[in-house]
Amino acid sequence: MIVGCQWGDEGKGKIVDVLAEDADIVARYQGGANAGHTVHVGDEEFILHQIPSGVLHDGKRCLLGNGVVLDLLQFFEEFDALAERGIDLAARVGVSERAHLLMPYHRVLDKASERRASEKIGTTGRGIGPAYEDKAGRRGIRVADIRNPERFEQLVADGVERARAKLSAMGQEDDGTLDAAVTRTLELRDRLDVIATDPGWEIVHALDAGKSVLLEGAQGTALDLDHGTYPFVTSSNTTAAGAATGVGIGPTRITDVFGVVKAYTTRVGNGPLPTGFDEEMDERMRQLGGEFGATTGRPRRCGWFDAVLARFSARVNGLTGLAVTKLDVLDTLPEISIGLEYCTEDGGCTREFPADTFALARVEPNYETLPGWEEDTTGCRSLEDLPRNARAYLDRIQELTETPIRMVSVGTRRSQIIHVD
Ligand code: GDP
Ligand code: IMO
Ligand code: MG
Repeated sequence: MIVGCQWGDEGKGKIVDVLAEDADIVARYQGGANAGHTVHVGDEEFILHQIPSGVLHDGKRCLLGNGVVLDLLQFFEEFDALAERGIDLAARVGVSERAHLLMPYHRVLDKASERRASEKIGTTGRGIGPAYEDKAGRRGIRVADIRNPERFEQLVADGVERARAKLSAMGQEDDGTLDAAVTRTLELRDRLDVIATDPGWEIVHALDAGKSVLLEGAQGTALDLDHGTYPFVTSSNTTAAGAATGVGIGPTRITDVFGVVKAYTTRVGNGPLPTGFDEEMDERMRQLGGEFGATTGRPRRCGWFDAVLARFSARVNGLTGLAVTKLDVLDTLPEISIGLEYCTEDGGCTREFPADTFALARVEPNYETLPGWEEDTTGCRSLEDLPRNARAYLDRIQELTETPIRMVSVGTRRSQIIHVD
């Protein structure tokens, strides 16, 4: 499985796309259309929100597990847009019957609650929080419910009514979008019915037949509902253990967990970023790395590689390997720093990622500074091809995270990858 180890946007889409070549099934296990996974194939760019990144390889089965919240409008919009570009999914995409539907009213509620909040999360506005709230509150609508039209329509009507009441309690009004969008959702029922499946069953049988399965994470460890910088997190378990629950298999079936880390750090949305740059360097890195949100277009905040977070991610995910992306973005820097530990005003320092997000917002990291390589790495295809200082930088990341580096990405293209044995 592939899991993000920072605040999302680590380049999971690119790594999944590269590994999907050798997989028979690629499955998403959590999150929804808040994800933005950018993949380059030749000169074409694809941004996938709801459909797994493995879809760009012909003939791969693509599944959405029960842990995903399924935004039907977004899903079929993406599905049709891919078909127009010659990627036909009809026979190879499947959606869990146990997945919860993310309804248009969840988006409306997400935006309304952000507008009203004194402490904004900075969500993607895709309805993720409200959809998972309904799931945990046992009033959600599942894919399986579409097979019982009477029950389904009652659930939808109840959902709309509840949403209207919540909006009104927040002092906001429905401008008519609730009903209109629900009508469109109802129209998509038949298309959903034919792709509904049991991904857990499919995956276990594929594994038993010696096939290979890739589980694709969305978001990142620091956005995990339990282990991230709560409350500035998403509403699902993004970490490795969530994958078993999210597709319906036992954890013992997962053999390899690759953590994706950018060679530096970024964050979009609110909440602390301990190794964040000053304004000038922030802008410079944003331009160098093209750091703008793939879902919302918001500028991502940038900072140095945070070894405290990466070590924490290695631990909570039980990583068996690291995939380091965007190494090439550092090519022109004369010096590169790594955040080694977090220090507080009273002089105490720690290498453990704190549970208290508000304490995290006040820490000052201690850095180690390494010489840059000031050479182009985009053509490197093996560790030996890399400049000596780039190798030393990777060695240090490996040492600090106590996790072997298995892949290094040096550009957006499929070919711009280094596999480490
Ligand atoms: P994800 O959400 O984890 O899949 O990551 P995003 O797609 O949101 O953001 C990663 C961005 O970096 C995308 O625009 C990718 O095309 C790009 N990218 C991925 N790997 C590399 C790399 O090694 N070098 C460069 N320069 N860009 C990369
Ligand atoms: P990928 O899969 C980066 C962030 C939002 C916000 C918080 C909660 O592309 O890595 P939500 O809409 O989930 O309720 O927002 O999480 N966020 C992401 N940041 N990459 C993502 O996905 C994200 N998905 C959510 O910016 O801070
Ligand atoms: Mg992204």
